This record gives sequence, structure tokens and C-alpha cells, in this order.
Amino acid sequence: MGARPLIIDCDPGQDDAIALLLAIASTKEFDLLGVTAVAGNVPLAKTEANARRVRDLAGRPELPVYAGCPRPMVRAPVTLATLGPLTNVALAIIKNPSILDNVAEIVAMGGAIGLGNVTAAAEFNIYADPHAAHVVFEAGVPLTMVGLDVTRQATATPARIDAIRSLGTPPAVAVCGMLEFYGARTTAKYRHDPPLHDPCVIAYLLKPELFEGRDMRVEIELAGEHSQGRTVCDVYGRSGTPNARVLEHVNSDGFFTLLTERLVRFKASTP
Ligand code: RIB
Ligand code: CA
Repeated sequence: MGARPLIIDCDPGQDDAIALLLAIASTKEFDLLGVTAVAGNVPLAKTEANARRVRDLAGRPELPVYAGCPRPMVRAPVTLATLGPLTNVALAIIKNPSILDNVAEIVAMGGAIGLGNVTAAAEFNIYADPHAAHVVFEAGVPLTMVGLDVTRQATATPARIDAIRSLGTPPAVAVCGMLEFYGARTTAKYRHDPPLHDPCVIAYLLKPELFEGRDMRVEIELAGEHSQGRTVCDVYGRSGTPNARVLEHVNSDGFFTLLTERLVRFKASTP
């Protein structure tokens, strides 16, 4: 099978940056057509600039990076990996629904069956633009939700960070710096080592066998006073037809082995 045509929509962001490096290192599996930036972790001008920095760090200055996705980039069906709020994707669907003919599947970091992170009820990427999330979840495209239930299992423990640092390459050293910066902010608040939310999307595309999940109906809470942006997941199939595959478990050792193996590739000038 040839490399999968892939577009990554992201808001780098530390874990987005690590996800981009993982994807860029995976040249056999991905034909990375481009990266689009969305406002999220920081404003759009910064997420675009950060995406360019990561691309340059990875030695891929020719890789297209766009602020927002103004038009379909390709004709052949692509996989779309979303690592930030779903604003760009929803807007593209609303402006030109036929764009979906070119999208084979969407794999989105966002939501949770359980606890939120930005509020008690909601995860950041969905909370940031719940109406956009609603459009995407109702679009009828095969959709995989990579939510906090699974990403909180992929935590960067000190031992895992040390293993990455020992690779000694500029991208690996940069990843450790990001994880330590990000970890200092998250560990005190959430009481666990920093989770690699966005890299889970890329790892799922590379090695789906590391993950377990179930098909279920997911509704986006648009109006709740305390629950806006919550992904209401019908785990027990009580409501309508499933609209997403929701990942629930990751083999976290396998995930970090994959990440470390791929970061090694930057030892050569071109992965
Ligand atoms: O809730 C996790 C998401 O928000 C990730 O995409 C991460 O980049 C954070 O900003
Ligand atoms: Ca992100």
C-alpha cells in the first residue's frame, strides 16, 4: 500500500509540535500534503509561525503551511488529522460541502467520555468551538475521536523523557524542552505527567493496533450552562446510530516506543 495522503490541521502548541514531528518522520506511511493552522492554543498568527518552525526544525522547509484552509488542497481522498479546534474544518464543510468527497476520514483530537480539562465537563478543542465540532460530528464522514480518556494514558514520564533526550538530535532535544515546559504547567494542575494528546492522533494513523475503541453516538453540548462543549458519548448505545469511533485505550509503552523510534530518524538529514 502507498503512503496515505494526509493533511494536518493544528494549533501548535507543544503537543501539536511533537505530533507534527512524528508525522514528518513517517515518510513511508504518510504523503504529508500540508499543514493548516487554526487558532487555539495561541492566536492564528502564532500557530502558523510555530508550524513553520517545527517544519524547519524537521528539515522540511518545502512543506506547505497555511493559516486556515481556504480551499481543498487535493483531489484524491485524504485523511484529515485535526489537532486543534474544528473551526477550519467546519467552515470548509459549510462553504463547500463537496469538499467531503475528498476526505476519506477524519481523526480528531478532542472531547472525552469522562472528565474535561478546560472545564469540569469539556475538553479544550471542542469547548473552543463547539458549534464547529457539531458540524464535523454530523458531517457523515468516518470520524475517530481521540479524546482525553485515551490521551491521558500517553503520559511523558521522566523516564520516557530521558529516553527521548538520549537520542541527542535537535528535534529530540526540542521535544524534551517542550515536554518539560508543558509538564511544569500541567502536572501541578492535573496531577499526572504531561499527556501527549495530539501525537496520539498520528500514532493511531501509524499503528491503530496500539489503540482500542468503540463506535458510539456522540452529541456536542452546545447550550449547557455548566457543560458547554462536552462530548456526550452514548457508551451503551441507547440513542441513535453511531457517528464516531471513540478511542478508549492505548498501549502507552508501545506509543512511546513508536515516538522514540521515529524521532531517531532525524539523525539522518532527511527522515
Ligand atoms: O485538550 C487537549 C488539546 O488542547 C490538545 O490539542 C492540546 O494541543 C491542547 O491545547
Ligand atoms: Ca492542539
